[in-house]
Amino acid sequence: DSNGSTTLVIFGASGDLTRRKLVPALASLHSKGRLPLDLQILGVARSDMDDEQFRAILAEWAALSSRIHYLHGDVTSLQDLEAVKDKLASIEGNGGSHNRLYYLSLAPSLYRSAMSGLGESRMSEDFDGWRRLVVEKPFGTDLTSARELNDVAHSVFREDQVFRIDHYLGKETVQNLLVFRFANAIFEPLWNRNYIDHVQITVSETLKIDERGDYYDQTGVLRDMFQNHLLQLLTLVAMEPPHAFEAEALRNEKVKVLNAIRRIRPDDVGRHAIPGQYRTYRDESGVSPESDTATYAAVRLHVDNWRWQGVPFYLRSGKALRNKSTEIIIQFRSPPHMLFPLADDEDIPANTLAIFVQPDEGFHLEFQTKTPEAELQMRTAELEFHYHEAFSGQAIPDAYERLLLDALNGDASLFTRSDEIEQAWSIVDPIIEGFSLPTAPRPYYYSEGSWGPVEADRFMLTDGRAWLQAGRAGSAMP
Ligand code: BG6
Repeated sequence: DSNGSTTLVIFGASGDLTRRKLVPALASLHSKGRLPLDLQILGVARSDMDDEQFRAILAEWAALSSRIHYLHGDVTSLQDLEAVKDKLASIEGNGGSHNRLYYLSLAPSLYRSAMSGLGESRMSEDFDGWRRLVVEKPFGTDLTSARELNDVAHSVFREDQVFRIDHYLGKETVQNLLVFRFANAIFEPLWNRNYIDHVQITVSETLKIDERGDYYDQTGVLRDMFQNHLLQLLTLVAMEPPHAFEAEALRNEKVKVLNAIRRIRPDDVGRHAIPGQYRTYRDESGVSPESDTATYAAVRLHVDNWRWQGVPFYLRSGKALRNKSTEIIIQFRSPPHMLFPLADDEDIPANTLAIFVQPDEGFHLEFQTKTPEAELQMRTAELEFHYHEAFSGQAIPDAYERLLLDALNGDASLFTRSDEIEQAWSIVDPIIEGFSLPTAPRPYYYSEGSWGPVEADRFMLTDGRAWLQAGRAGSAMP
C-alpha cells in the first residue's frame, strides 16, 4: 500500500487499562470519525493471558475489527520483538511512510526492559516514518527511579518522542483552566498574592482500593495522586502565561512553578501535611495488617515566587470519602473594611471562585448581595456555569480520547516532560519520607464516607481557614 500507515502498537493489550480506557476511547473516536483513516491497531500481550479476558476484549473491539491485529508476545523478549517487527512489516506493506505509536500499557516494572528492548531491536528510530512512545503512570516510584527511567528512555528515544501520560491533563475542564485564565482578561489581573488569600485543590474519591491492594499499599496517596494529578492541577493554576499554546512553552512554565515550590523538610512534615487512613483499610486484601500507608493526605504548599509569595496552596485527596469530586477553589481576600453589619461571629466574607473539574463540570463565583427588604443584610449568591447546560447534548469525552489523538498528532502539550516528572517527585519524596519517620504522626483514622480525619480540619483551623465546599455558598465542609 503506497499511501502509508500509522500503527498503534499496544503492549499489554490484555490488561485492565486497555479494556477500561483505551478500547472505549478508540471505539468512541472511531464512531466520531476522528481516528486517522490509515490507523491500524496491533495488540501485543503475553500468552498467559486468560482466554475470557481476550474474548471480552475482542468483543469490545468489534466496531474496529477491520483494523485490529493481535500478537501473543512478551515485550521483554527480543525474540518476540522480532516477531512484532515482522507482524508490523506485514501490516504496513511496502511504500509510503509508516508511523508507529508504541503504547506501554504494562506493569510499571516492565517499562525499563520494554524501552531497552525497543532500542535493541532498533524499533525506536524514525526510519520510514515517526516512532513515538506513550508511557502510563506511575513513572518511577521516587526521584531516583524516575531519573533512571528517564535515562533509559533517553538512551532509546529523543525526549520529543516520549509521551508520559497524566490522564488529568486530558480532562476537558483541566484544559479549560488555561482557557479560563488566558482567554479572559478579567481574572488574570486578580490572579496573584494581592487579591488571592489562598487556593484549595481537592480530589476526593468514594472508591476504596478494591482489587489494587498490592499496588496501593506500596504506593499510598502521595505517589498515586499528589505526584501527578494534584501537582499538575497546581501548576496550571499557578503558572505564568506561556508565550504560545505549544508544548515546550507550556511545559517550561509548568516546570518553573514546580521549581518554585518550597520543599518540605522530612523532619518538619507534621507542620505541613496530615496523613489519613480509612478505618477498614488494613482489612483489605493485599494490605499489610500493620500498614501505615496513607489513603488520605492534606498538604500545605508554598510557591516561592513573585506572584504567589505568602499564598498557601492546600491540597487534599483521599479514598473512601463522602463524594467523588475534583475541585479547585480560589479564595480571594476579604474586603479591607466592612460597611455593613455582620453577626458577631461572622468574618468579613470573601469572594470565592470554584472550578469543578468533575463531576458537574463548570464553575461557581460567589459574591455578596443585599437581601431584599432587610435593611442592610447581605447574603452570599453565586454565578454558575455548567458545562452540561452550556453545551447541552455534547457529552464530555473521556481524557483518553484527547490524549490518544494528541499522541498520534505529535502534540505533547498535555503530556509530562522528563524534568516535570522529576521535579514533582522531588516535592513529594520528602513528604513520603517524613511520614515514615518515627517522629512523624501515624496516619489518622477516618470513617468511610467522611471528609477525612478531623485533624485535617484542625490543620486548616490553625491557619485561620476552613476547607470550603464549592457550590454551597460560604459553608465549610461538615
Ligand atoms: C489514578 C489513580 O491515576 O487516578 C487512581 O491511580 C484514581 O487511584 C484515579 O482512582 C482517579 O482518576 P479519575 O479520573 O477517576 O479522577
